[in-house]
Amino acid sequence: MPAAPQTNAATPAVDLERLLAAVDADYRRAERDILLPLAAGLRSPLGERARILAAARPMVEAMRAAAREGGAVAKLLGEYPISSAEGVVLLALAEAFLRIPDSATADRLIRDKLGSGEWSRHIGASDSLLINASAVALSMTRSWLAAGGEEGLFGKLVARLGEPVVRQAVRSAMRLIGEQFILGRDIDEALRHARVPAASGFRLSFDMLGEGARTKSDAKKYLDAYESAIAAIAGWARGGGNEIAAAPSISIKLSALHPRYEPTQEGRVRRELGPALLDLARLAKEAGIGFTMDAEEAERLRLSLDLFAGLAADRSLAGWEGLGLAVQAYQKRAVSVLRWVEALGAGSGRRIFVRLVKGAYWDYEIKRSQERGFADYPVFTRKAATDVSYLACARLMLGSAHIYPAFATHNALTVATIHEWTRGRADFEFQRLHGMGEGLYEPLRAAGGGLNCRIYAPVGGHTELLSYLTRRLLENGANSSFVHLLQDRDTPIESLLADPVRLVEEAGGAPHPRIPLPADLYGEERKNSTGIDLSDARTADELVVRMAAHWSAPWHAASLIDGLESGDTVVPLFDPARRDRNIGEARTAGPESIARAVASARAAQPEWDAAGAAARAGCLRRAADLMEESRDELMAIAVREAGKTIPDAIGEVREAVDFLRYYAARAERDFAPTPLPGPTGESNQIALAGRGVFACISPWNFPLSIFTGQVAAALVAGNAVVAKPAPQTPVMAHRAVKILHRAGVPANVLHLVLGDGAAGAALVADARIGGVAFTGSTASAKKIARSLVAGDGPIPPLIAETGGQNAMIVDSSALPEQVTDDLIASAFLSAGQRCSAARILFVQDVVADRTLEMLFGAMDELTLGDPGELATDVGPVIDQAAQSRLARHVEAHRGRVLHRLSAPEGGWFFAPVAIGLDDVAVLRE
Ligand code: FAD
Ligand code: 2OP
Repeated sequence: MPAAPQTNAATPAVDLERLLAAVDADYRRAERDILLPLAAGLRSPLGERARILAAARPMVEAMRAAAREGGAVAKLLGEYPISSAEGVVLLALAEAFLRIPDSATADRLIRDKLGSGEWSRHIGASDSLLINASAVALSMTRSWLAAGGEEGLFGKLVARLGEPVVRQAVRSAMRLIGEQFILGRDIDEALRHARVPAASGFRLSFDMLGEGARTKSDAKKYLDAYESAIAAIAGWARGGGNEIAAAPSISIKLSALHPRYEPTQEGRVRRELGPALLDLARLAKEAGIGFTMDAEEAERLRLSLDLFAGLAADRSLAGWEGLGLAVQAYQKRAVSVLRWVEALGAGSGRRIFVRLVKGAYWDYEIKRSQERGFADYPVFTRKAATDVSYLACARLMLGSAHIYPAFATHNALTVATIHEWTRGRADFEFQRLHGMGEGLYEPLRAAGGGLNCRIYAPVGGHTELLSYLTRRLLENGANSSFVHLLQDRDTPIESLLADPVRLVEEAGGAPHPRIPLPADLYGEERKNSTGIDLSDARTADELVVRMAAHWSAPWHAASLIDGLESGDTVVPLFDPARRDRNIGEARTAGPESIARAVASARAAQPEWDAAGAAARAGCLRRAADLMEESRDELMAIAVREAGKTIPDAIGEVREAVDFLRYYAARAERDFAPTPLPGPTGESNQIALAGRGVFACISPWNFPLSIFTGQVAAALVAGNAVVAKPAPQTPVMAHRAVKILHRAGVPANVLHLVLGDGAAGAALVADARIGGVAFTGSTASAKKIARSLVAGDGPIPPLIAETGGQNAMIVDSSALPEQVTDDLIASAFLSAGQRCSAARILFVQDVVADRTLEMLFGAMDELTLGDPGELATDVGPVIDQAAQSRLARHVEAHRGRVLHRLSAPEGGWFFAPVAIGLDDVAVLRE
């Protein structure tokens, strides 16, 4: 049991830098390495576990009884678990329904969602009126839909009843779900509602709902809400004369207060958010209330620690003990973070208020790391591991003189354990969320002993509620969650109260067997490509330095034709971000060299085909590994030659590597001879083989990935290849071919031809070409097709992927933040040059103003500039021709420009622009 804190006057001047380095080192460390020492430190003295269980059991029983009484959401999720079809429907409805302003879309959403789910079997299954009413309403709707063949009956009902009963029922159910978690729609209402819990001794922390602002004006709105909340809470709380720890507080999500609260925007965040946060903290201090920074996604943690350190060091807040932050125990860094916080408290001569939580973004963290191909997860993968970490953190906090501990949890075992450790102490508090954990703390408080408990109270309307609500529904519905298992009468108390330390030690601290590391996501088939975590400051800084080393000397690219380097013409290459910066030169190939390449490939192809799929796949896999080894250089080329931003350059290399491994796996599977039926006793089998020589013609917008994808697919299928990349990106193609050669593809099987459209035309016109893979414009694809049919021999196949006009259609059920993110990513990132880029937005009139306001606000937050800088979102377009074409397009729509950013000087920049097409017909349905 930890001793009560003693102020240690001899606390050494602590090295915060060293402690931060330890935080960074633990970010994605192997689970076992972190966990086993924590578990070993928690083995309990004799008798402790028995006392904890004796305390926890009645708590569980009381909570089970309380859950049977109330908790609309818990009941709904008990009846419709998130893992069932009905639960998914409810989640989808809760996510979208309340924000839809027009009845027509609301009805369509209901129709769409209720089409699935077996609602009728839930009627009468629960003793809750709400569940039964919703089951009846939902199952009736479903049978109307089934009977009416969609439009018919539903439409008639709408016509007869006016606003359909169903919509009303769904609206009430959804409001009820939302309202359970909100203390008030605004701060005045919340303060009125807070009187009841405050009167029975609960402390309160008010959270002004809102997070992930996309625009300056939304961030300002949230900041204003906090400022007025602080003023209102100050008035409400005055007169209590309480110490700060007992005073009410506000809980703040920093992502609400800045539109780019992201690691790559660190400089801006410090400059812009730092002062705003300081002002807010000063207001809280003057108001005599506490101020706690919530914990959000792991990638934002380092930024929040920096900002927090700034507050702790500010003279105007010196000695103030209202300063606090939330720490997530599910992060592997949790203990290191607490050590740093403790040192910060010691250094600034105060106790820092720390709210320990397990963490509310677990699913996101896991998916994010998998998608980005990070080396490991920032969070534990077993629930018991998080519990162990929580207890280890709790111990550290309870033993620290510089931390005021707050334990936020709805888990009775966690509470009972901490309660056991804190007997006789009152200098800490428990916390629960409004609308959850009812029945957990009341018995403990009733038993006396001055137990402090604070309620975290969200304040706001349903438009700001969504993200918060989703986390709460997941928390109530997740099969690992204590509050969910509590509802499940089949889960015995013993398993709810299983000792997490024992569980972790029995598993040897190993990660969850069904959550593979991101690299192993595709199992036996192939390794996932490796990403780079730009939220790790050290990694990001080192990356930039390493990349810069590759662009210190000029690059040379040359056609690679059967070992001969052709010197037909030499073309200088310039950096699209700085048109005066020569980055190297390319030696192109003329018609004779091209013919020589085709002849050589033709001669080499049969042997390559005969080598078999396994040998060819081996070459591709080696090439993938070599590309990962050469990643810095390839990224440097993507940035300087193609104007790609650093995140895009990471994606570029990863996609190429994935192509190589994917095609290797497919070839091994598909090229194995397959037996066919032999009706007369004969033995038949089918086997695939190469066609001959493939011409691979690729664009500059994905200079490595599309180039590699085309070439790898053709090669692994047993073809020889003559590849002709876009004239803008010869260096990248040259490096890729060199890597494939090093990986074992013979030089006479894979040739590189550098040149412009004429070189491509000469290549496809060669009668010895057995097939063409092309990615580029529709016009060029048509030219190639015509050229292929013009020959006398068999017509070679053409695999063409061409561009087009991509539209996004947004109706009123769409979440504006999601629309904004997707539009920004699709229309403007990669300088708008992806073939999949969104070019036209159709938006339903009722939400048009809000959608455009958010979109334009988010455009304003984009950073345009040198793609070699980490902070850059939008780099240059590829060349002068592209820039002029875009300028002409905008000029042709002069007078209709709705929003436009300004472009940096000195390169082929073209700033994002939105044009209104007012002559497009209004789409009503
Ligand atoms: P338990 O059921 O014991 O734990 C559930 C938690 O375990 C999950 O939330 C997750 O963190 C973890 N978990 C589940 N499955 C796994 C797995 N397979 N591997 C590893 N871990 C797993 N959360 C924040 O992120 N930031 C905040 O600022 C924040 N503030 C809060 C304030 C209060 C007052 C409260 C009560 C909660 C707050 N939370 C915050 C939410 C909190 O993270 C969740 O409520 C909490 O994780 C649930 O934990 P529990 O002990 O109640 O339940
Ligand atoms: C969340 O927003 C309560 O901060 C916690 O999920």
